[in-house]
Amino acid sequence: MNTIALVVFVIVQILFIPMALLGVVLICYKQIYISKQLGVPSTAIEVIKGRWLMHIFGLRKDQASVKLISVLPNSSILGLWLVFLPSYLRYRISGSTYGYPAIPPPEQEGLSHLVTARTVYIDSLIDKHRYSVEQFVCMGAGFDTRCYNMFQASEVACFELDMLKIQQLKIESLNKAGIDISSVTFVPVDFSEFGWYEELEDAGYDPNKKTLFLWEGVTLYLDEPSVRQTLKMMKQFSAKGSVLICDIYAERFVKGEYAFGMKLPQFILGTNKGKNSFGLHLTADAKLTLSDFMASEGAVVQDTFLMGAKTEKGTFMTVFDALLE
Ligand SMILES: C[S@@+](CC[C@H](N)C(=O)[O-])C[C@H]1O[C@@H](n2cnc3c(N)ncnc32)[C@H](O)[C@@H]1O
Repeated sequence: MNTIALVVFVIVQILFIPMALLGVVLICYKQIYISKQLGVPSTAIEVIKGRWLMHIFGLRKDQASVKLISVLPNSSILGLWLVFLPSYLRYRISGSTYGYPAIPPPEQEGLSHLVTARTVYIDSLIDKHRYSVEQFVCMGAGFDTRCYNMFQASEVACFELDMLKIQQLKIESLNKAGIDISSVTFVPVDFSEFGWYEELEDAGYDPNKKTLFLWEGVTLYLDEPSVRQTLKMMKQFSAKGSVLICDIYAERFVKGEYAFGMKLPQFILGTNKGKNSFGLHLTADAKLTLSDFMASEGAVVQDTFLMGAKTEKGTFMTVFDALLE
């Protein structure tokens, strides 16, 4: 079956080259140009695109992402199908995925696994904590859908925090997609302006309740003072036993020095803040560096995933949970 799948893939891929190129143009136009027109970051599309692919290729169920991406004006489902149809046919015939999208064994991740591996690690950490908290705060939520699947039927109060424009676009699109948002409170914030906590409390957040904060794919867009200040606020204004799930990137990664050719996509996606972006030196003992940093803000790291640790280039990011005690 694998050989038949490979033959079908090669033939369709060759015939499809012009279509795939058209697909790339459509995806880039929507993700970069339309996002710019709308005044929203194009990187949030990168994540939901990864989640859509994971769903389509059977790696992780996420019906809400499938519905949401299909109505977002800055994404192109047609473009995605034009690019991925040959791989999809191969997957349907053989039952396996090859190359991309994929989830390699822990610590053997490369840059192409950033969204897929990060997503499953974070899902596992959310699963660990979701039954013992009363509030879930998705910090810099982008187009994340965990409030609409993992927390949908739960008693946990859900809050989504993000910049105003992307949040408005998300609410509009969730409504268009027919996704029930009645259990989610949206709070527009900017983590680099230190008043975000007041906005959250005004929206109904209770600092006396045990809370799970998710801060995924955001620290690299902030400078160190904003990251530290946000950590301080989460710790100060949450009940004992509250937890943060987060990812922090290697300095080499945020500076575009981790791999050859990283600087151009970072420039195109607008993530090239260079020396102002927050990252840690994860080259020596990454676990220790991470726990020392978190301890300096009074948080105790629990489980850690060191993505890329067993590859030639080494760790490019960490995913972890930390007790805010
Ligand atoms: C790469 S996206 C990740 C989105 C989401 N957490 C996910 O994993 O799907 C980064 C998100 O961080 C948000 N963000 C970046 N800087 C921010 C800031 N200063 N204040 C609030 N949100 C911010 C962006 O608007 C965007 O939605």
